Amino acid sequence: MKILIQNGTVVSATGRVLADVLTDGETIAAVLAPGSALLGADPAASVDRVIDATGRYVIPGGVDAHTHMELPFGGTAASDTFETGTRAAAWGGTTTIIDFAVQSHGQRVFDGLTAWHEKAAGNCAIDYGFHQIIGDLNTDSLQAMDGLLAEGVSSFKLFMAYSGVFYSDDAQILKAMQKSAGTGLMTMMHAENGPAIDVLVGQLLAQGKTAPYYHGVARAWQLEEEATHRAIMLANLTGAPLYVVHVSARQAVEQIAAARDTGQNVFGETCPQYLYLSLEENLGAPGFEGAKWVCSTPLRSRAEGHQDHLWQSLRTNDIQMVSTDHCPFCMKGQKDLGLNDFSKIPNGIGSVEHRLDLLYQGVVNERITLERWVEITSTTPARMFGLYGRKGVIQPGADADIVIYDPNGHTSIGLGVDEFGEQTGRSHHMNMDHSAWEGYEIDGHVDTVISRGKVIIDAQAYLGARGDGRFVPRGLSQYLI
Ligand code: URP
Ligand code: ZN
Ligand code: ZN
Ligand code: ZN
Repeated sequence: MKILIQNGTVVSATGRVLADVLTDGETIAAVLAPGSALLGADPAASVDRVIDATGRYVIPGGVDAHTHMELPFGGTAASDTFETGTRAAAWGGTTTIIDFAVQSHGQRVFDGLTAWHEKAAGNCAIDYGFHQIIGDLNTDSLQAMDGLLAEGVSSFKLFMAYSGVFYSDDAQILKAMQKSAGTGLMTMMHAENGPAIDVLVGQLLAQGKTAPYYHGVARAWQLEEEATHRAIMLANLTGAPLYVVHVSARQAVEQIAAARDTGQNVFGETCPQYLYLSLEENLGAPGFEGAKWVCSTPLRSRAEGHQDHLWQSLRTNDIQMVSTDHCPFCMKGQKDLGLNDFSKIPNGIGSVEHRLDLLYQGVVNERITLERWVEITSTTPARMFGLYGRKGVIQPGADADIVIYDPNGHTSIGLGVDEFGEQTGRSHHMNMDHSAWEGYEIDGHVDTVISRGKVIIDAQAYLGARGDGRFVPRGLSQYLI
C-alpha cells in the first residue's frame, strides 16, 4: 500500500511546511515539495491512494505515554479494554499508547509484565508499549529491573501514595532510584504524600464529609508539592532521571522547574483534566456528579491559579508533555462504589480520545504554538520514552503514523453510551457511561488517521481491525544525554 498525502501543511515540533508525504508499506518513504512526486500521467498506477490535504495539517500520530487499560483498582477494573481503549485513541488521532503493566503486591515483576502482554496482544487498534509499575519493591523486584530494558520496557513507575496497594516508602524509592541511575531506566513518580493523605481522609470521613469534593480537599497541593520535592531530592542524591506523572499543582511545577534550572534530569507531565477542569466546578458538582472527576492527583482550585500556571509551564517547557492518564470507570457499578465514601470512588478519568483535540484548543486560544502542540502530544513523548525516529516525527523511515487534522472542522464531545449501552448521537468511543468532557465544543477535527501505513480512521468511519496494533519495544530515553 502506497499513500500520497498532497498539499497539506506538514507540522513538526520545529516548524511547518507545505509538502507532500508519501508512504510505502508501513513506513514513510518521502517528504516532498508539493506536486513533485513522480506519478506519471495516471497517479493510480503508482500509488494506491491520493489524499488531498489542502488547508489541513499533516502531523505525526499522537503518542499517549500514560494509559491504564483494564487496570484493577478499588475492587473493580478500568472499563476500557485494550480493544475499546485503543480504538477510541485512534478516533482521536493517537497512534501509540504506553500503558502501565502492573506488578501487584506479592507478584513477581515479570509475571505482571507477562499478564499485561496477554491482555494487549492481538487486541489493539494501534501500537502500544509498556512502562512497568513496581507495586512491591523487594530484593527480587530490584533484581528483575535489570532485565526490563531487554524486554523493551525502559521506564518504571513508583507510588508515594496508595498504602497497601502500590505504595513505596522512601527507603524503597531510594533503592529503586539507585537501580534507575545504574541502568538508565526512567523513574516515573506518582508524587503525593500518601500517609498524610490517609490521615486527612479518615478525619474528613469522621466529620461526615463523604462527597467527591473532599477527595480534592484530602489530597491537598501541599502534599503534592512535598512529595515532588522529596522525589527530586532522592533523584538528585542517586542520579536517577525522574519523570513526575500527572502534575496538577502549580507548586509542584515550581519544584520541577527549580530542579531543571540546576541542570537535574527532572521532567514533568500534565494531563488535559488539570489544564481545563477544577475542584470547584467539577469535583464540587452537585450530589454525586463530582465522582466523574475523581482522579489522583486531584483537580485543583481555579481560584488558586493552577490551570493557568500549567498552560504557562507548557509554553516555557517547565512541563514537557501531556498524556491523558486514561483510566475510565463508569458511574453505574464503578464510581458509585463510593456513593457514601469518596475514598471508595475508583480513581481515574477517561480522555484517551480527546487529548489532541483538547490541546489544539491551546493553539486556538494562543496559549501554545502549533509546533508546540505537536511537540507535547507526539514528539516529546516519543523522545522521552525511547520511541523517537520510529514514532513522533514525519520523516523518511519513520513509521507511517500520520494524522490529517482539519483546523476548520468541529468536534462535539458527547455522552458516549446511554443507559441501555447504545451509542448516543453526540458520542465518543470510550467504554464509559458518561464523559468527563461532555459539552466541550472543539475547534478542529481529526479527519484521517494512518497507523503504520494503514488508513484506520477516515470520513467518520473506523476502518481498522482488532490486532492491527503491535507491541513496540522501547529503548532508553532520548531526552537524556
Ligand atoms: O486517578 C488516577 N490517576 N488513576 C490512575 C492511577 C494513577 O495513579 O495513575
Ligand atoms: Zn499515578
Ligand atoms: Zn496513571
Ligand atoms: Zn473535517
